[in-house]
Amino acid sequence: MAIELKTPEDIEKMRAVGRLAAVQLEMIEEYIKPGVSTGELDRICHNYTVDVQNAIPAPLNYHGFPKSICASVNHVVCHGIPSDEKILKDGDIVNIDVTLIKDGFHGDTSKTFYIGKPSILAKRLVSNCKESLYRGIRVVRPGAQLGDIGSAIQTYVEKNRFSIVREYCGHGIGKIFHDEPQVLHYGNPHTGIELKAGMTFTIEPMINAGKPGVRLLRDQWTVVTKDHKLTAQWEHTILVTETGYEILTHRNDDTIERCG
Ligand code: MF3
Ligand code: CO
Ligand code: CO
Repeated sequence: MAIELKTPEDIEKMRAVGRLAAVQLEMIEEYIKPGVSTGELDRICHNYTVDVQNAIPAPLNYHGFPKSICASVNHVVCHGIPSDEKILKDGDIVNIDVTLIKDGFHGDTSKTFYIGKPSILAKRLVSNCKESLYRGIRVVRPGAQLGDIGSAIQTYVEKNRFSIVREYCGHGIGKIFHDEPQVLHYGNPHTGIELKAGMTFTIEPMINAGKPGVRLLRDQWTVVTKDHKLTAQWEHTILVTETGYEILTHRNDDTIERCG
């Protein structure tokens, strides 16, 4: 099936919801410190989404997911379920992944935060993952192909001897949370679907310090590294423009330009 191109009206709505998702990650930063539980972070985000942003937290009840955000600590790759029992401590890293629905459209973004003082490995891993996302984004323009994005990410990550999770990928996004196409974080240049202005999708590399293998816990959501080593993730929702890209979930702390 052909990939949906957004109309100018759709794009305005994608911009608006992308902005709300970005603001939510900016909002939560000050609460992320030693002693806070991921359950508390979930409650803060939920209430902010509903009461302040007049939006809907997309994860809540999505295929049965029980909470409003994903909070994935240390060796948790993605889809960590927030819990009052999971208390963040100095030296941890946590990925907070928020997806909002406003006016029928989705905005999806995540960032890995440090709690207190990170280890040297954590700093290297988190910054490699962030840079790999940016390298994938910089490739985006009409005429480029999905394999060009995957290749840009893979080349950078593997050069630094980290590994890429293969089981989960970026995705088309709009009225549907997880739409076509699948955006793989590895691949070969000049392969895959050609990008066209008006496409919107996420790029969300999950990068492991050890081996790439992952395991699903018995809760059927939490994904962990098989070797229990550290893992990081960063995600943006991207629009393909006539000349390149626009990062719909751009934040003030991003070190890449909103448009390119
Ligand atoms: N936000 C995640 C993504 O980037 C998906 C979370 S689905 C949930 O695609 F059900 F776990 F919330
Ligand atoms: Co996503
Ligand atoms: Co997400």
